[in-house]
Amino acid sequence: MMTQDQIALDERPAGAGLSHLLDVDALGADQITAILDAARTFQQLAARPIKKVPTLRGRTVCNLFFEDSTRTRVSFEIAAKRLSADVLNFSAKGSSVSKGESLKDTALTLQAMGVDAIVVRHHAAGAPHQLTRWVDAHVLNAGDGRHQHPTQALLDLFTIREHFGQLDGLHVAVIGDVLHSRVARSLVQGLRTMSAGVTVVGPPTLLPLAVGQWDVDVSHDLDPVLGKADVVYLLRVQHERMSEQFIPSVREYARLWGMDGRRLRRLSEHAVIMHPGPMNRGVELTADVADAPNALIARQVANGVAVRMSCLYLMLGGERA
Ligand code: NCD
Repeated sequence: MMTQDQIALDERPAGAGLSHLLDVDALGADQITAILDAARTFQQLAARPIKKVPTLRGRTVCNLFFEDSTRTRVSFEIAAKRLSADVLNFSAKGSSVSKGESLKDTALTLQAMGVDAIVVRHHAAGAPHQLTRWVDAHVLNAGDGRHQHPTQALLDLFTIREHFGQLDGLHVAVIGDVLHSRVARSLVQGLRTMSAGVTVVGPPTLLPLAVGQWDVDVSHDLDPVLGKADVVYLLRVQHERMSEQFIPSVREYARLWGMDGRRLRRLSEHAVIMHPGPMNRGVELTADVADAPNALIARQVANGVAVRMSCLYLMLGGERA
């Protein structure tokens, strides 16, 4: 017998209209709401002993990762498997990419094998977009250079909405290495689309020049921002993307921009702490902040699966296999 959830999931919301998921800017408030609402149904599924639905049986999802990843790749894999899709994990290491095969040839090979969706992470901004020109499969961007990381933003929006019951009117402080962060670019766009206010906080060397055009407040001083934030969103210091010296030292960064117990006490009572992971404990945040009761970091990871299920479902679910 079908459950209520299955009935709801078989009727894909008309007009969700996702062909690819490349950047958050392309999503309107209605589409974001549709993704978050479907994710809530999938989240309920995760609480059951049998977590699988047959929605994507017979479809093939390929995880094509050219950059390191733990949680995003695993999260996409679990999401696709819970929807009963076949999953293929392809990492550049150990593949013909290390023999010099180009992204295009790799994509055409996957296309020839008939994959239905490609989840791609690549160090070059725009690579997922380029992929859509070469393949018929749906393309989901799992992070491209410093550009975008849309499913991370969606899982963050989901987590904030889950906690506060809404996004509209909340105030989010996005703190740290914004310059190198695809997470920040995606999240800020999503928050603004959903009518949340944003203050971007960090040293001038770690904020992009274009931040002035982002429709956000900008602060180079963390302490005055703390009291008015509903959400404190800490970004990882992305040493691997830094080609020069952006901060005097890690210790100096932690002193000026890191969340510690002292700053935690300056937050308003209802405020929450978020971080996309992986965390540098002792740099962006101290261990007591990471493990504080109002830190939603583990919720973010858990919700990532439901949100990725929702994206895959809205893209592939209603199609004929
Ligand atoms: C982020 C990424 O890879 O962009 N991590 C993630 O996907 N959870 C953030 C980061 O690496 O700092």
